Amino acid sequence: MKPVKVGLLGLGTVGCGTVTVLYRNREEIARRAGRGIEISIAAARDVNCLPQCQASGIQITQDPAAVVNDPEVAIVIELMGGTGLAREMVLQAIANGKHVVTANKALIALHGNEIFARAQERGVMVAFEAAVAGGIPIIKAVREGLAGNHIQWLAGIINGTGNFILTEMRDKGRAFAEVLAQAQALGYAEADPTFDVEGIDAAHKLTILASVAFGIPLQFEKVYTEGITHITREDVGYATELGYRIKHLGMARRTPHGIELRVHPALIPAKRLLANVDGVMNAVLINGDAVGSTLYYGAGAGAEPTGSAVVADLVDVVRALTADPENRVPHLAFQADALADLPILPMEAVETAFYLRLRVLDRPGVLADITRILGDLSISIEAILQQERDEQTTEADVILLTHRVREGNLNQAISEIEALASVTQPVTRIRLETLAQ
Ligand code: HSE
Repeated sequence: MKPVKVGLLGLGTVGCGTVTVLYRNREEIARRAGRGIEISIAAARDVNCLPQCQASGIQITQDPAAVVNDPEVAIVIELMGGTGLAREMVLQAIANGKHVVTANKALIALHGNEIFARAQERGVMVAFEAAVAGGIPIIKAVREGLAGNHIQWLAGIINGTGNFILTEMRDKGRAFAEVLAQAQALGYAEADPTFDVEGIDAAHKLTILASVAFGIPLQFEKVYTEGITHITREDVGYATELGYRIKHLGMARRTPHGIELRVHPALIPAKRLLANVDGVMNAVLINGDAVGSTLYYGAGAGAEPTGSAVVADLVDVVRALTADPENRVPHLAFQADALADLPILPMEAVETAFYLRLRVLDRPGVLADITRILGDLSISIEAILQQERDEQTTEADVILLTHRVREGNLNQAISEIEALASVTQPVTRIRLETLAQ
């Protein structure tokens, strides 16, 4: 059988990783797919890997439209990033009857509902394994491997750059900005690294994961998103003293009232496997009613790990080329006309435990005032840690861990605590997840 011709958009880190993996393992990949897979044309403004492209016989153009309109091309791989031209090119490829493979999490999170609807009408596939957690085959695991489960919750470290920064801060006491610069140099960070450190990239990925886990439409705009820029070395140290690690988590949880969708730093018990996922590695913990908890771990960013996921999608698409569209795995795991209209909970209604750091004047009655406010709002304390006072300022840090509390109650407690004359700085709060059940 003749090889399948593939067009590629984008030859940056992931584009070059894909070219390298596909060329190096071409024979094995053909044995898996049932026929050869060849990138015949690629469009890029900057080509990071010209020698590999030449060795692979890829024609290079600057014009992405030449790729999506090429009559020889059966599958378009979109690795250009962004949501403007990328959306236009993907929709054009679909309109031309081509299948699409993309690593673009922002594109899927923001425009996936539209893209999947067009693909469904046209009878083509859109595969997006590489959009979430780099090389970890998490979409396949949730969409197919866990298809028998009623999924209860999932928690993931799904931004490698953020995890790298938190790990280096904890282990080596390095400064935030310096570690971020290194992540950029290593090609882990997004073009705009605020997407990494403010949680936007993780929110894109969480949007996609929640949809395939719960069978709900993609709803990026409803994800609560908080970054890691306010995490200090002191908080990292206190968390360690209390037996926890601070991780930047994406959490999606089914509750009787709706779905929680949230990205924020969280303390997690140091003994959990997820707490020991360090550096640029990603991991996703998923709890289903039948299987219990399962954990998926691997490289969340980088050229070849992400290329690995892109090529796996290519193989899947090639294998299904002759399948009736009705018999393919649905884009969001559930049949398109069977998605659930579950409400997404506002943050005030979400229940979690909390780490609170208060800077207080070290004098009698201060703790009593604070615990009275918490008690009046039914907030129960799990642990307290008070540091020695600074003799010059007579101030001390008090760290409190609470039991689970409705976020709305905690907001009220914090505003009352901050109004006390003895509390000298805004209260730091970090959510705490036990990840037990
Ligand atoms: N900037 C992303 C990360 C790349 O650091 O995880 C992979 O999506």
